Amino acid sequence: MNIREQLTARIQTAMTLAGIPIECRPMVAAAKKAGFGDYQANGAMGAAKKMGTNPRELAAKIVELVELDDIADKLEIAGPGFINIHLKPEWLAECVADAEQDDALAINPAAEPKTIVIDYSSPNLAKEMHVGHLRSSIIGDALVRILSRLGHKVIRQNHVGDWGTQFGMLIAELEETLQTDASAAMALKDLEVFYQQSKAHFDADQAFADKAREYVVKLQSGDANVLKLWEQFKQVSLEHSTDIYRKLNVTLTEQDVCGESFYNEDLAPLLQELKDQQLAVEDQGAQVVFLDELADKEGNPSPVIIQKQGGGFLYATTDLAAIRYRAGQLGADRILYFIDARQSLHMQQVFTLARKAGFVDSDVSLEHHAFGTMMGADGKPFKTRSGGTVKLSALLDEAVERAAAVITEKNPELEGANEIARKVGIGAVKYADLSKTRTNDYVFNWDTMLSFEGNTGPYLQYAYTRIQSIFRKAGINPDELTGDIILGTEQEKALAIKLLQLGEVLEQVAGDALPHLLCTYLYDVASLYMRFYEACPILKSDVPAELKASRLRLCHATSRTLATGLDMLGIEVSERM
Ligand code: ARG
Repeated sequence: MNIREQLTARIQTAMTLAGIPIECRPMVAAAKKAGFGDYQANGAMGAAKKMGTNPRELAAKIVELVELDDIADKLEIAGPGFINIHLKPEWLAECVADAEQDDALAINPAAEPKTIVIDYSSPNLAKEMHVGHLRSSIIGDALVRILSRLGHKVIRQNHVGDWGTQFGMLIAELEETLQTDASAAMALKDLEVFYQQSKAHFDADQAFADKAREYVVKLQSGDANVLKLWEQFKQVSLEHSTDIYRKLNVTLTEQDVCGESFYNEDLAPLLQELKDQQLAVEDQGAQVVFLDELADKEGNPSPVIIQKQGGGFLYATTDLAAIRYRAGQLGADRILYFIDARQSLHMQQVFTLARKAGFVDSDVSLEHHAFGTMMGADGKPFKTRSGGTVKLSALLDEAVERAAAVITEKNPELEGANEIARKVGIGAVKYADLSKTRTNDYVFNWDTMLSFEGNTGPYLQYAYTRIQSIFRKAGINPDELTGDIILGTEQEKALAIKLLQLGEVLEQVAGDALPHLLCTYLYDVASLYMRFYEACPILKSDVPAELKASRLRLCHATSRTLATGLDMLGIEVSERM
């Protein structure tokens, strides 16, 4: 149990003894400001309101009845009935010592492990991955890592766009280029160029355009030749994405791909069901569901087109099939979507209709975790100098190059500088994104993200490395440290409490899918560590041996917390930098 859970359990018992109804919760939280204890219990006010009594008196009664002698050395009542809890340094010292030795760093597994499906990255295979896919890929992957770490069963779903009319054109073009190019890999070495080329061909050449349309139909009816070309196209494009995932240290592999084409066979029966339930109705030759639940201000229901005039199915149809599969076949308790905020209406329609049609039970949690746009310095969506979309592979290469320049300037003799630059560059891009509140737009800025000062990836990586260098200097293997931890100063105590809060933070991140909370936490850890490091000498000759051992163990708990936290964000650390 983490600190908050332990305090909650004990205070809840005292509240029951005080005759407070069980639905009133103790409301325990870490103190936000110094001088108000380490934790606060704010439940007395709500309980007093419910019971019609005086909140301060009720708080006093809770304080009198609560058994916290082994954990806390002081309880105070403040303001209208807050209970401020001062934790005992001896108890904290034991807890942090246990965590330092524990492989799991005292992170509790979830009491009820869930099956959680995470839809993320999901690029369109017709084109090269661009910056628009960055946020989904890295935020989604952070949640994958965190939820797995908490013991949930996580199923990744890379819902790639590998189906639809564009593919007729692309396959027809591929067929032609294969007459001169040796392989699909060669023909498609630049997907962007290939796409432009086929589009130009399509617009200029009537016969080609007809063929492209014919190929769409053939693809859908399973024509062997067309399917083979499509498979080739898909393979090359997927390899490109997989390359990016590897560079980005994102855990997606080809096994996680479950694209739009996977649901092709489900679409016609799905439409039939919606018709049988009288949800889908004909409207100007199309099949449409009108959702009153999402009506606009004038009361016009929100239309969801399931099938176009002419028979084609749409993005929403596929998403309905996917959500049904995820809830039904994959047995999801929660389904998380990491998609741009601009698709919010689409997701709302899919969720509402899926529930209404009974595709998803009411106890399955459907969550669109939307995010804002990555902006350039001009405050407009991030583009290349000439106004084109920025390819993700180019952006990542640039990040590593820039990191290399920064590192060489700092330390020209550094061994393994290439590998370190890779970790720093990629880490900087990821951290800059993950540390912003997910729902906001943010401005992409190379200089701030690569700075070694402030709330940045390099700062945290460097904080880790500096601790590792202390162990090297002391000639000590940190895994073999022994002796007690003693929290003799305010700085040591503050650091220890922070270190013990990792599990609480992870639970919060897991619930709301907000990785920036973990970033803020790690930055706090690093800052409190710096305060400790400045106030408490470690290796100086006049430091008594037991104090030295204690402080080294605190260093080790800190470096493990930083490395573990960064790992959950998909960011690597280096022993030297
Ligand atoms: N392929 C889509 C795009 O690039 C994103 C898909 C997101 N996932 C989903 N289930 N709709 O915009």
